[in-house]
Parts: sequence; structure tokens; C-alpha cells
Amino acid sequence: MESRHPATLAAQALGWIDPSTKALIPPVHPSTTFIRDPDNQYRSGFSYGRPMNPTFVQPEALLMKLEGGAACLTFASGMAAATAVFLALRPGDHVVAPQVMYWGLRNWLKNFAAEWGLIVDFVDASAADALKTAVEPGRTKLIWIESPANPTWAITDIAAAAEIAHRAGARLAIDSTVATPMLTRPIELGADIVMHSATKYLNGHSDVVAGALVAARHDEFWERIAAIRTSNGAILGSFEAWLLLRGMRTLHLRLERCCGTAQAIAEHFVGHRRIAAVLYPGLPDCPGHAVAARQMHGGFGGMLSIRVAGGESAAIATAARVTVWKRATSLGGVESLIEHRASIEGPGSPAPPDLLRLSVGIEDAADLIGDLEQALAGVG
Ligand SMILES: Cc1ncc(COP(=O)(O)O)c(C=O)c1O
Repeated sequence: MESRHPATLAAQALGWIDPSTKALIPPVHPSTTFIRDPDNQYRSGFSYGRPMNPTFVQPEALLMKLEGGAACLTFASGMAAATAVFLALRPGDHVVAPQVMYWGLRNWLKNFAAEWGLIVDFVDASAADALKTAVEPGRTKLIWIESPANPTWAITDIAAAAEIAHRAGARLAIDSTVATPMLTRPIELGADIVMHSATKYLNGHSDVVAGALVAARHDEFWERIAAIRTSNGAILGSFEAWLLLRGMRTLHLRLERCCGTAQAIAEHFVGHRRIAAVLYPGLPDCPGHAVAARQMHGGFGGMLSIRVAGGESAAIATAARVTVWKRATSLGGVESLIEHRASIEGPGSPAPPDLLRLSVGIEDAADLIGDLEQALAGVG
């Protein structure tokens, strides 16, 4: 499977076949403990359910391969995966993070990480100059970016950020949840660690909370992250790991559909009299379009936002009137979701009050566009 297309790797989950039964689909391993050999060794590689479970092996191997990495670990959630990276740093280490990023992680960095001793500066990561100014060679240990970034879909130039990080002696980690390895392979662009909320596109069916990290190298920092997973115990359940692998088998098909429909919706609503702005990196006028076109392949993602003319009340009223779109948080599932982002993020959110975030699923594009049209028309 060395040189196969990502679609083939995903659909066949690397072509794994159970050696004893010849089953094409791996089993769920609920066992929390494993037999020790008579000579006191654990040759199977498995001893207890918290360090490792056989059901993690295939989803981790597949994601590692799709990302072109050297190692992968799944976690109990995207937040568990992301925070493991920061916990692997030392108190006093300097971190540069984006102003526009997943709000839950931004809050964790502002509150917990700062109290624990990390020094975190938030900058406009879509401007390479801002990143360059913020890093302090020798003191900065990590640049964290997210591209496209929640909820404006701002784009960060991954290769430029990697160069800035490495020149300063720091690592580059990226939340690539929205792009997925089907659209962007950050390790090829110089990233050291790729993070996913696997709750989103990787699983894709809104029925698993999961996270993952992929490393460019199996080094001492990665060992620390692995030790944090084992000792903090933020591991996936075995059934969730099994579902995650099943979801990943159709990642390429879902992404292709989501990207095509998101592009169609974005183009349809540009210049619409009830829409103040459409935020989508696939639109030539979006500020990050040129960089996105360079580092995203096969589409610009299934996430976009619209700013509703008439402000916050018009945006909330529009979301109230949809029937095909579902009013719910999260993203990356097969069903399309709509959300008034400032309401969930609360004070300090960079989300404009008139912004509705759209997670485009795999439904019929005309149904989705028609539903938004009738909701906007009804608001008046
Ligand atoms: C881009 C992004 N990163 C990280 C997370 C956190 O992931 P989880 O909810 O799986 O912990 C989310 C969740 O919404 C997200 O959208």
C-alpha cells in the first residue's frame, strides 16, 4: 500500500486483513488486560487498556499514513489531543497562538495554560510578519496554528509558519481538523505535529468524540506526549476507535462532496442583498485565497460563514427559520449544521455578532441553498 492514492488507503483502511479469521474488518477489543508470557514478558505489545488497545492500531496507522507522518496517537477528544501538546512543554516556555482559533482551546490557553506557567501570545497568524515578530529565538518553543481557522476560515501559510518556527528553534503544531489530510498535508509543508478533532470530518457521522495527533518525527518530545496520554489516561474507548476507522474509510468521498457544495453555496450567496459578507477561502476575493490555493488540494473545505445584513438579531432569526440545516454546534458530519457562533463563544469571541457558521454536509446542494434563501427572505 506504500504508493497508493489516499482514496485507496482510506477505503481499504490500509488493506488490513485479520491473520487468523481473514476478516476484512477488524474486531472491537474491549479487553482491558492481556496475558503475560510465562517468562514474564508482554510480547504482544499489549499489557493494559490505558497505555494501548489493539483497536487503536488501525485508525492510528491509517491517519499516520494519510498525513505522511512517523507516529500517530488517538485521544479521548480533540481537546485531549491538543492539550497533550501544551502539557509536554515546560512551565516558562513561550508559545505563539492565533487570535482566531477554536474557542475552547483558546480559553484553555488563556486560563489553564497561563496558570500552569506557559507564556502565550495571541497574534494574527494569517500575517507571516506578525508570527515573525512574536517569536523569541531560544524562548519560543511552539507555534500553534489552525488553518482554515474557526470561525472566519482565515488561512495561515503553513510553510512560512514552519520556517519561522524552525529558525527560532521552535516546533510548529497545526490544528488541521477542517482541512483533513485529504485537502492539506501539513507535515510535507514543514509542520512538526498535526492535530485533529477526529469528532469532526475523520469520523464524520456526529457519533464519536475523538482526537488525534500525528508527528513528523518520533523524537523525545513525542515520547513525552505519549507518556502524557498514558498517564493522564485521556484515551479513546475501543468502540469509538472502531467507529472512527469505519468513518475514515469514506473521508475522501465526504470531503469531495462537502467541498463542492460549500463552494456552490459560497458562490451563490456572494453579493446577495441579505448577506453582508461570505467568508470562504474558496472565493477569489477572500484574503487567504492565494495561500489556500497553494496548500489545499481538491477543495477549500466544507466550512464557511455568512454575515447576515441586519446584524445579530437578523442572523439569529435566520438560523431560527431553517428546516433542512440543523441548528447545532460541531462540524464535519454528514448533516449540515448552522450556528450563531458569537452566542456559543461568549465574551471575548472574535466572531462578529452577525456571523452564522455553516458546516456543509452531504445533502443535496439545491435543498441547502433553497432552505437558506427562504430563511433569509422570511427575516425580511
Ligand atoms: C477546529 C477544532 N479544533 C478542536 C476542537 C476540539 O475538539 P473536541 O470537541 O473533539 O475536543 C474542535 C471542536 O469543535 C474544533 O472545531
